[in-house]
Amino acid sequence: MNIQIPDHIAAIKSYQPGKTIPQLKEEYGWEKVAILWNNENTLGYSPKSKQAVIDAYESINYYPDPVSRDLKAALAKRYGKSENQIFMGNGSESVLMHAIRAMCTGEDEFLTSEGGFVIIYNWARINNARCVAMPMTDNYAFDLEAIKSRINRNTKVIYLANVNNPTGTMITQQELDSFMQHVPDHILVIVDEAYFEYSEALHPDFPNSLKMDYPNILTLRTFSKAYGIAGVRLGFGIGHEKIIDALNKVKLTFEPTALAQAAGIGALQDTAFLKKSIDNNTRQLQYLYKEFDRLGIRYVPSYANFVMTVWKDKDEVMKVFNALMERGVLVRPLYDPISHCIRISVGRPEENQMCIQALEEIL
Ligand SMILES: Cc1ncc(COP(=O)(O)O)c(C=O)c1O
Repeated sequence: MNIQIPDHIAAIKSYQPGKTIPQLKEEYGWEKVAILWNNENTLGYSPKSKQAVIDAYESINYYPDPVSRDLKAALAKRYGKSENQIFMGNGSESVLMHAIRAMCTGEDEFLTSEGGFVIIYNWARINNARCVAMPMTDNYAFDLEAIKSRINRNTKVIYLANVNNPTGTMITQQELDSFMQHVPDHILVIVDEAYFEYSEALHPDFPNSLKMDYPNILTLRTFSKAYGIAGVRLGFGIGHEKIIDALNKVKLTFEPTALAQAAGIGALQDTAFLKKSIDNNTRQLQYLYKEFDRLGIRYVPSYANFVMTVWKDKDEVMKVFNALMERGVLVRPLYDPISHCIRISVGRPEENQMCIQALEEIL
């Protein structure tokens, strides 16, 4: 084979999909399983969203609305923005990918933190941007001072996750404000708020970057978490019209799909389901903390639908991970520099109890 893969693509480690749940069920013979490894909403999804998808299926032989008019109108109303400040993508990861592609060329740098959402580092490299990741603070948070000090004339995009996945840490209003005041306004600051609906219920002053007056912020939100429709792939970015216009130029013509647009419109109409998801998360996080304290498990307080537990080292992590797996509890062991940690998503009460019972047996 003589095809040459460009160096920046060849250097990327490809995504290694794990076994599927049915494969694992067969292998381990579990009767019950608690799926707590992807920060999904295990309560399910809104019936209104499901019905909207069923209705939309009637027209599935036609291409979707390429500009998601109805969905953008619903979001514009909800957030007090205009439709041309909103960009819809196949999940918020797609919005992030398009933002880097639209913004970065040549020597441009994508500046962020270590210990963040794993996919971002690859998205930067795929788009030929130099990825610079600063060490975290001792408390597993983004070190905004360090990030600020690394800004140089090549810095094009800064990525902040609030809340950060997988550490669960937050950036406060005051920290974000003071950071933004120091960032030159030609640098795009992506503030990823994938867990926002949970976060604002967990912290009375959780910063809402949509309400901050910085034209160089692009806020990312998703339907994959509190709305519970991760499988249809739907997320959005909200920012200045000039930024959104650039994103529209690089997007796939018919992204997101017709079914995803319908699912989103349905999901937005169901505030009762959203509230149920948020309340379950708030209550169940407290349950997990209480039980972790009882079992002497260290953890980092979280502002999202998962919590990062801290262990002695990577060996201990793999022992706990494998022992949980044998008991049908699926959690996420983490990677350097946090390979001594395991992320556990917040599930339904019975799943969380199953997780705690398994941990108690193991310890
Ligand atoms: C911080 C963060 N951003 C973005 C995403 C991607 O979400 P989506 O399903 O919208 O692509 C995730 C998913 O886990 C996440 O944790």
